[in-house]
Amino acid sequence: MLVTRQKILRRFWYPTVPSGQLTDAPFPFRLLGTDIVLFRDGTGIASALIDRCCHRTARLSQGWLDAGNIVCPYHGWTYAGDGKCVRIPQRPNGNPGKNIGVEAFHCSERYGVVWVALEEPLAPIPDWPEESAPGYRRIDQFYEAWSCAGLRLMENSFDNAHIHFVHRNTFGDIDNPDPAEPTIEQLPFGFVARSDVAVLNNEQQKKNLRDDSAFTVRHMTAHWYMPFLRRLHIRYPSGLDHIIITAATPIDDGQSQIVQFCFRNDSEAEAPAAGIIAFDRRVTAEDRAVLEGTDFDVPLAIHSGVERHMPSDQPGLLMRRMLLDLFAAHGEVEQTRHTMRQP
Ligand code: FES
Ligand SMILES: [Fe+2]
Repeated sequence: MLVTRQKILRRFWYPTVPSGQLTDAPFPFRLLGTDIVLFRDGTGIASALIDRCCHRTARLSQGWLDAGNIVCPYHGWTYAGDGKCVRIPQRPNGNPGKNIGVEAFHCSERYGVVWVALEEPLAPIPDWPEESAPGYRRIDQFYEAWSCAGLRLMENSFDNAHIHFVHRNTFGDIDNPDPAEPTIEQLPFGFVARSDVAVLNNEQQKKNLRDDSAFTVRHMTAHWYMPFLRRLHIRYPSGLDHIIITAATPIDDGQSQIVQFCFRNDSEAEAPAAGIIAFDRRVTAEDRAVLEGTDFDVPLAIHSGVERHMPSDQPGLLMRRMLLDLFAAHGEVEQTRHTMRQP
């Protein structure tokens, strides 16, 4: 699947820029191969426009903000957050006339990040009650580009077989590599997978979990939100919740912007955020090292012959089938550079 060629993927929300990084300057971002520019309008509301002036195609992100409007660096044409041109300095009184403007995209700010959908979204941004629930805190963890497909990270997150190999130096138990089998409940735009996985407790985790045992059990409820968003709720035997939200926002076919934060029902005094980030940093770096070596053109067709499978691949295979069904429902077929082999 080449994500930039699957038009229906434009109809989902993707987290793009952390709220704190969207201040008083335009912020460029590439989403599904489309260059966009984000900025705050006069009232502080985040806006997203095509990063291309309708005069001579200059990049608006190279311009500047003026009272919440974005000024093109080439001749100063000025646009509001809804894309309308509000000033053409070379015309009398700067009056732009009617019907001049650039494309504006759906834009919304939640969970400390600015979300964008390039076309009418098929599903809402998920509601995660922990954002405002008493006793929970949000810890912002990572914001970085990885050279891999979003689907690779999604299926990795639901792949109980990789834990004991990729994470053998953090929490995997390579001597007990049997993958726990999840139960899967399919939803309209995703699914929930539940499984219990026995893992090792390293020194950092003993502090983070306030549990000195050598082993612990992760009760995992993992939610896949089509196409590249995941919520992993890990409940430990003590009742501690570690809920990781990970997005692999598609930059283009070969790159994904990783946005990760977590919710915890403990306090900074009990487990400092720095220690929690340090452990999750090590774990994600282990995943990243492997995933950046994989082919970004993930074959969706199970019998393509490009990849072989095993029983624990079930969640990833379901993702592929659901994406193919989504494409079919909207008159699309998988776009890929693989030559399909006949079974
Ligand atoms: S290219 Fe933007 S004002 Fe001319
Ligand atoms: Fe992993």
